[in-house]
Amino acid sequence: MKRIKKNMFRFGEKDFDLDYMKWGFHDKETQINEAKSILNILKPKKKLKILDLGCGIGTHAVYWAKKSHSVTGEDISKTFINKAKANAKQEKTDVTFIACGINDLNFKNEFDLITSIEFFPSEMNILRKIYKFLCKNGHFIFDVRNPDNPKIKKRTGNWRSWEERYGKFYLERHETNITTGIHVDAWITIDLRKKIIEEKISKGKASQSKLISRDKIKILKSIGFKKIELRTMDGKKFKKGEKPYWLWCIAKKY
Ligand SMILES: C[S@@+](CC[C@H](N)C(=O)[O-])C[C@H]1O[C@@H](n2cnc3c(N)ncnc32)[C@H](O)[C@@H]1O
Repeated sequence: MKRIKKNMFRFGEKDFDLDYMKWGFHDKETQINEAKSILNILKPKKKLKILDLGCGIGTHAVYWAKKSHSVTGEDISKTFINKAKANAKQEKTDVTFIACGINDLNFKNEFDLITSIEFFPSEMNILRKIYKFLCKNGHFIFDVRNPDNPKIKKRTGNWRSWEERYGKFYLERHETNITTGIHVDAWITIDLRKKIIEEKISKGKASQSKLISRDKIKILKSIGFKKIELRTMDGKKFKKGEKPYWLWCIAKKY
């Protein structure tokens, strides 16, 4: 067997981003429904100043701008930001798109709404920045996986899986060592016909994006957010025990 070790590419690296655009984002209809749902939850009576963190190809940002809100979209990937700018141009609307990391942003009491969709900024200093960027009564809205959903229950914590497709074996391993905090993600493909094993392994400190909603809420409270609530994606109040996969987490700054 020949063993090939491949690098794990990350967001912000061109090779990764170009490939990711083919499969990684929710389809446009889902993204538009997410953007609508957030406005339905807030029911704004005035034009909002919105910052969309990790905005990707800008679908949500462009939707809000078309509804006359003033929108800034930020993403670490130049590839995604270029696509987002092209999307805004095509839709004949104005959005400020910035290609940079959140750490490079600096605002104070500026935004009525900050969103991060399918992207939870993991570091404490970034969450503090988000709090600072928001105006009084501003909202931070992001999506969380519902720990009561059976699929998520199965995949919370350490898990392994394998499956066979057309003679190739796909193995996955996701593990966090609770004592050291080291997290490992491994994807291994074994092709018996070609006698090749391909390995992609990513190892590092576990990030807060691995946290479940309850822990994220605790962290936001410690930063100063007072009222934090969960809603279903169609904007209804979430009742404990319900099992949708995704939920909105809405944190308000007073
Ligand atoms: C799963 S995608 C979601 C994109 C978009 N919010 C959506 O829902 O379509 C995650 C996004 O976060 C961006 N991202 C990852 N790390 C980032 C960072 N440190 N700062 C800013 N953006 C980041 C990625 O480039 C990517 O566009």
